[in-house]
Amino acid sequence: MKIWKPWVVALGAAAALIAGCGGGSGEGLDANGRPLGEGDDPSGPMTASFSSIQSHVFTPICTACHAGAAAPRGLRLDATNSFAMLVGVSSGGVPALKRVAPGDADNSYLIHKLEGHQAVGARMPLGGPYLDAQTIGLIRQWINNGAQK
Ligand code: HEC
Repeated sequence: MKIWKPWVVALGAAAALIAGCGGGSGEGLDANGRPLGEGDDPSGPMTASFSSIQSHVFTPICTACHAGAAAPRGLRLDATNSFAMLVGVSSGGVPALKRVAPGDADNSYLIHKLEGHQAVGARMPLGGPYLDAQTIGLIRQWINNGAQK
């Protein structure tokens, strides 16, 4: 004998509805489909997080030169490579100094280059315009907070 089970139909419809809601519009995601963190939106204010520094400084300003096989001093500052090439890595110009020494902005060569008191070569970004004090301050803060990814 056949039994009609309306609840099966109802459950199926509910599942379809829930699944339908799962397809996001892409809002709040970055170019790689990852969720935007606070400060990641390059049109909004910058914060002292690595991803915010990347989207406000490294990507729009520095990759004009620091990208690809010909990057100066081998330093690539695109989003894929920058962290690994900065944090805890000896600089080419002054090998005794790390490019970024976690917890120690004063002894990070990146800061020397951005502030213009580097021992070797030129202030960055080469040829200017240079970063303002507030922007450099946020990068200092990121380093002094431990230079987390
Ligand atoms: C117009 C090209 C150009 C731009 C833009 C530029 N750089 Fe450079 N950068 C260079 C060149 C050339 C060198 C190598 C000579 C020197 O050290 O001055 C260099 C060297 C460096 C070094 C030293 C690396 C080492 O290991 O010795 C750092 C750090 C650096 N740049 C950071 C930056 C940052 C951060 C930005 C963006 C805010 C930037 N640069 C923008 C051309 C550029």
